[in-house]
Amino acid sequence: MDTAAFASPRHSRYHPTNAAPPTARHTSRGNLPIDTPPPYGPVRPDEIDAVARLAHHGFGLPRPIFDRYADLFGVDRLRVLRATGPTGRCEPMACAAHWLVNQWFCGQPVSTQAIAMVAVDPTRRGEGHGSALMRNLLAEGRAAGAAQAVLWPSTLPFYQRLGFGRGGVACRWSAPPALLTPLRGIEWDDGAILPADPRDATPLAAIRRRMLEDGNGLIERDETLWSLALCPDGDPAALFLLTGPSGAEGYIALSPPQSRRLQVADLCAATPRALQLARRLLSGYRAQADHVVWRGGPDESLPLLASDLGVELEQREEWLLRILDVRRALTARAYPSDIDTVVAFAINDPLFPENNQTFHLKVAKSKGEIILCMNDNAPTATLGIDAFSSLYSGHASAKALWQAGLLYGKEKIIAPMERLFCGPRPWMVDRF
Ligand SMILES: CC(C)(COP(=O)(O)OP(=O)(O)OC[C@H]1O[C@@H](n2cnc3c(N)ncnc32)[C@H](O)[C@@H]1OP(=O)(O)O)[C@@H](O)C(=O)NCCC(=O)NCCS
Repeated sequence: MDTAAFASPRHSRYHPTNAAPPTARHTSRGNLPIDTPPPYGPVRPDEIDAVARLAHHGFGLPRPIFDRYADLFGVDRLRVLRATGPTGRCEPMACAAHWLVNQWFCGQPVSTQAIAMVAVDPTRRGEGHGSALMRNLLAEGRAAGAAQAVLWPSTLPFYQRLGFGRGGVACRWSAPPALLTPLRGIEWDDGAILPADPRDATPLAAIRRRMLEDGNGLIERDETLWSLALCPDGDPAALFLLTGPSGAEGYIALSPPQSRRLQVADLCAATPRALQLARRLLSGYRAQADHVVWRGGPDESLPLLASDLGVELEQREEWLLRILDVRRALTARAYPSDIDTVVAFAINDPLFPENNQTFHLKVAKSKGEIILCMNDNAPTATLGIDAFSSLYSGHASAKALWQAGLLYGKEKIIAPMERLFCGPRPWMVDRF
């Protein structure tokens, strides 16, 4: 996996001055030339400037950064919703980016639509363009085979109306480097910290695989996400392999200290030895930094090893999940191996009628299958697609949803649901 190509901004090859002009075609809608493109669809080369402006208004994204992302993600991932503007021309009023990744739950990958850069023209907000764009985008993701969609929100109500629920968290931790000094006597003399090339993520993906399998919610990175992780600001971070006698057991990528804060760009420590080596490396920065800052899950190991009080949870953010295809989602993920049961979900999904039914899930030997059930009296949990999404990821327990009035059913349905969706608390730190 080569991350070098994405290390720094490049002039966008999709700038309209570089692109071939759109050719006139004719459609089955009549003999009209396509001056009027369909309301929703992939961005056209002559619309890239308009999308860059939407991104600037929506996120304050300067053009060079937009061009970097356009190169990183590829403009074929951009979608627009067009409407007639003040000039009478049909132009992009809203934009978003999407692509397929795998998100792991209980040791299995689930095909997922990752969504980013949702923005609506500031003069046209509140007119329904954002919702219309999202409905089209989610339908496209579902048709492409995604079982669910994931995104980082800046607002909850807008996405909740579209069926998103809270999916999991990302935590930002900080600690004075001195607190991370390994205790004497438990140094790992057979371990080493070796500088490595941040432009080749292939060995890192192999190390990270164990984290994907053991955790919940982590995304299997493609080249784009590796580039963002290892070259967060466009420049490659300093990468170190944390090795034992049989090879690499972890890695750590560091951005240069700024304002006496040392930012860990990425960290994966698959063994106690790798974690001790990471501590040794980080504590060595105590003359240059007052704080080491890293992003991770709610159940991090590093805070447990701090030598004194002073580790802080600086920030806790939530990402959102939306199950697009209930049947596919329930059969893609795995379940705890000691459970043999059948549970029923009556799902309310205003967007996808295929989800709007009762699903009987039979789980045995970690696998789930949807079965036909003639027993009308089978205990059933009734819930909206947003609450179901939070239950599915394990972010919200069946009991918490039931107590909140977001899951309806007899109390006896709670215990098997709690056991089905238990496991490590879901977290994911990749930003998109
Ligand atoms: C968030 C955004 C995409 C919404 O687009 P929009 O076209 O204004 O939304 P819609 O008109 O389709 O609104 C649908 C509903 O969501 C609500 N809504 C929209 N934006 C909201 C917000 N920021 N906070 C709370 N509710 C919001 C609307 O009130 C509306 O509810 P209603 O039907 O009861 O009136 C748009 O405001 C935007 O571009 N914001 C800046 C960029 C941004 O924050 N993007 C999201 C990044 S994750």
